[in-house]
Amino acid sequence: MMKISASLLGADLLDLGREICRAKEAGAAWLHIDVMDGRFVPNLSFGPGLVRAVRRVSDLFLDVHLMLERPIEHVDRFADAGADQLCVHVEADRPEETLRAIAARGVRPGICLNPDTPAEAVFPLLPLCDAVVVMTVQPGLGGQKLREDVLPKLRALREAADKTGREILLSVDGGVKADNAARVLRAGADVLVMGTGLFGDPDPRDVIERIRREAACAR
Ligand code: DX5
Ligand code: ZN
Repeated sequence: MMKISASLLGADLLDLGREICRAKEAGAAWLHIDVMDGRFVPNLSFGPGLVRAVRRVSDLFLDVHLMLERPIEHVDRFADAGADQLCVHVEADRPEETLRAIAARGVRPGICLNPDTPAEAVFPLLPLCDAVVVMTVQPGLGGQKLREDVLPKLRALREAADKTGREILLSVDGGVKADNAARVLRAGADVLVMGTGLFGDPDPRDVIERIRREAACAR
């Protein structure tokens, strides 16, 4: 069944506790937490302190997206903070070693790929992964428009993921909204990461219900 991962970057940061409740009540099963280092992407965002604080108040699955140049240096901090899944970029330093380090901490490892990175770049890493995060915007900022030209990559990723014999979830991150979600699901996504498309709407429950209705006939 399709899952929504509510991206806290799109939430009202001064009211984060209430935003987390709003996401859960709306039907989001996961919370997506974007971590940026000002190097791998120009922006800065959240760190392990936020993951720890969210872990204390929420039983939702914590899906942590590391946009870091050298993620291996931070695996232990995020594992200690209570992340359920740690996703690192194939374009970053030492992805294979980092995925192994994440798994060794008992956290689900995931690999992310930027919009212009070919699907094949992650194939050799799939046997080490529980998730693949397909970026449909250039990482670093919320509120950008989804690049539809990236969606065909999902089919190749699904085929390669199935060959590993592992159950690998495909996430799509960037610009997902109620009005493009059906196309994203039809392309093969299992998880929709939604920031502004969810928190920016006065009625997030209605957003998710609309997506679920459309998902029922998407595949
Ligand atoms: C972008 C982040 C996304 C972002 C998505 O670098 O990885 O998770 O929060 O935000 P929206 O849904 O607004 O594009
Ligand atoms: Zn993200």
